[in-house]
Amino acid sequence: MFEVKDLKKNYKTDFWTKPVEVLKGISFKVGRGEIVGFLGANGAGKTTTIKMMMGFTSVEQGSISFFEQSKFKKEAHRIGYLPERPYFYPHLTGMEMVRYMGSLCNLSPDQISQGIDKYAKRLRIDHALSRKINGYSKGMLQRLGVLCTILHDPDLIILDEPLSGLDPRGRKDIKDLLVELNNEGKTIFFSSHIVSDVEEVCEKVVVLDFGEIVYQGDIDELIQSKTDAIYLAITNSKSNKLQDLARIISEKDAMVTYSIDSHKKNEFIKIAISEGIEIMALHKDTPTLEEIVYKTGGEI
Ligand SMILES: Nc1ncnc2c1ncn2[C@@H]1O[C@H](COP(=O)(O)OP(=O)(O)OP(=O)(O)O)[C@@H](O)[C@H]1O
Ligand SMILES: [Mg+2]
Repeated sequence: MFEVKDLKKNYKTDFWTKPVEVLKGISFKVGRGEIVGFLGANGAGKTTTIKMMMGFTSVEQGSISFFEQSKFKKEAHRIGYLPERPYFYPHLTGMEMVRYMGSLCNLSPDQISQGIDKYAKRLRIDHALSRKINGYSKGMLQRLGVLCTILHDPDLIILDEPLSGLDPRGRKDIKDLLVELNNEGKTIFFSSHIVSDVEEVCEKVVVLDFGEIVYQGDIDELIQSKTDAIYLAITNSKSNKLQDLARIISEKDAMVTYSIDSHKKNEFIKIAISEGIEIMALHKDTPTLEEIVYKTGGEI
């Protein structure tokens, strides 16, 4: 559906300082019909990437292609985009804003009404559309933003932090809607730094860390690849020999938990038996996606 190739970006903050390398040559692909999460800590470069994809920031090096070969401008009407900080005219009502956005996408008044009928209630913003936007809460603005993004029935939906500023119910509403739109065949790419939200909705992720892609692919495969490597064993006492083999990660009420590389597991068991130490539990250490993304220091 779209492909980013060797994208680089430097920002110069002032005349004297060296430019900061914000994107260090990133490449990734999103296939038709996929729903992909774009993960990374604050400042990783997610918004910069998305802005470059949308043509709001210049591309210094690399390329971005949409819908296999076509030029972005020709296909822009097939894309729905929600910026990180969308701007709405505060003196307009929600309805006027939605109608204005719809007209920018060349939708007829009837098409706009159909889009509003289809999505405004689902987004729980229907009751507020007659009110002026300057009275909207942060979550209401976010809901209005999503409505404007999907109004023209785009094939590809790109959202920068669509869940920020929403309460748990709002997050669920948007997540459910994204899944539903994806089930209808739409391709969805959205950034977030809340890993559990991404895990709930997506099968695939692109993980960005300090301007570099550290992982792209299936979430399950990533977790699986991390799960096989380490075992956790809980024993009833300490032992120097076991400590030579494995790392103690916690000690509580004489219960000692070791982290063991999988190839040392059998030796660990043998030594424990020979030392008369009881192994109360032994299991694979299954990290959460959140732990993988944020605790590996970028080396997934
Ligand atoms: N216009 C700009 N001028 C200078 N530096 C910028 C500019 N825009 C972004 N940067 C820098 O680029 C880096 C990446 O910023 P970006 O907004 O892309 O991160 P992000 O992953 O979207 O973070 P967040 O999760 O906080 O939204 C940051 O170090 C930021 O300071
Ligand atoms: Mg951002």
